[in-house]
Amino acid sequence: MNWNEIDTYVKHWLEEAGNRITASFQNELNIETKSDRNDLVTNIDKETEQYFIKNIQSKFPDHHILGEEGYGEKLESMDGIVWIIDPIDGTVNFVHQQRNFVISIGIYQNGVGRLGYIYDVVQKELYSVEAGKGAFFNGTRLAPLEEPPLSDAIIGMNATWLLSNKLVPVENLHALVRDIRATRSYGSAALECIYVATGRTDAYLTMRLCPWDFAAGKIFIEELGGVVTDVFGNSLNMLEKSSVFACKPGLHKEILDNYLLRGISK
Ligand code: IPD
Ligand code: CA
Ligand code: CA
Ligand code: CA
Repeated sequence: MNWNEIDTYVKHWLEEAGNRITASFQNELNIETKSDRNDLVTNIDKETEQYFIKNIQSKFPDHHILGEEGYGEKLESMDGIVWIIDPIDGTVNFVHQQRNFVISIGIYQNGVGRLGYIYDVVQKELYSVEAGKGAFFNGTRLAPLEEPPLSDAIIGMNATWLLSNKLVPVENLHALVRDIRATRSYGSAALECIYVATGRTDAYLTMRLCPWDFAAGKIFIEELGGVVTDVFGNSLNMLEKSSVFACKPGLHKEILDNYLLRGISK
């Protein structure tokens, strides 16, 4: 597989898609709700996904595509080359803030992450990774992840963890939040993952994501020495919804053992 050729096309398509998205700020959005009133989709999410699919199919007709808005395929296997696309990750931010959203693309070969892209359209910040060859921020290589002590850690997690949930006892989460330095919540899973990859935060903990939310971010974090699992420490299935716990390796074990799994029989 000529990964360089794919990389050149993706970077060109990301730039063009980004320009179309920023140009759309002038126009009125067509906003629909999906599963509930917090789950929005716009004409721009749909148009962006269609733009990528049209281009991928014309250059790489034998590749498979899984996209959030459903214009790709209904995949039952990760065999071959699979593009996993979130055309706008952080749609609520896109609609309300016109910032803090990204395009996220993970490219897998037989289930193994090969190329990843997270593009912050408004900031014009492009993160790219090729597994085994390094991760980059606007072309500058990102350093391997360093471990902070738990007491200095910043964890990306949102306020839904305040509610009782079926995954982690709320008192375990209270203890975790008390013991770390701070929490953050950015409203885009891919942005949260790239913040872990760049060391701006130390972990990301979330209850329920779809593969397109974490497909690219997982490749970045693993390339830089981090660990991405569900909140029980199991590896993620790229075709299923899951909780996600992305973190630096030693901290990942410490948080799993002392907080997330505390009092839970595995
Ligand atoms: C959402 C964002 C958000 C996460 C949600 C996702 P979308 O993706 O990543 O941060 O908490 O679970 O659905 O719908 O904006 O692409
Ligand atoms: Ca969505
Ligand atoms: Ca998403
Ligand atoms: Ca989306």
